[in-house]
Amino acid sequence: MTEQEFVQVAQTGDLSPGEMTMVKLNRDQVLLANVAGTFYAINNMCTHMMGRLAKGFLDDSEVICPFHSARFSVVTGEALTTPAKDNVQTYEVKISGEEILIRQSVA
Ligand code: FES
Repeated sequence: MTEQEFVQVAQTGDLSPGEMTMVKLNRDQVLLANVAGTFYAINNMCTHMMGRLAKGFLDDSEVICPFHSARFSVVTGEALTTPAKDNVQTYEVKISGEEILIRQSVA
């Protein structure tokens, strides 16, 4: 897999701690979350039935799907509770000044 370029998706001032939003990286919908001042990015699609995670709730470092309440870690992408079984993809996050940049993690 070739290394992807980092792409700017937001500004640090766009999200306060405890907030999350959906951004786009190429054709991916990505959930961008601010957890106590650190930014994390995971795929926005719940692996259960494609609920849009950014429309759910952020509870510290866990996002709760708005459809059937599965929890995922926004840090690792791990599916923490049923009904989701599969993890979601994570993205690398880089802060440059006030810019938030992300890229696909190299597997
Ligand atoms: S679609 Fe996310 S828990 Fe069902």
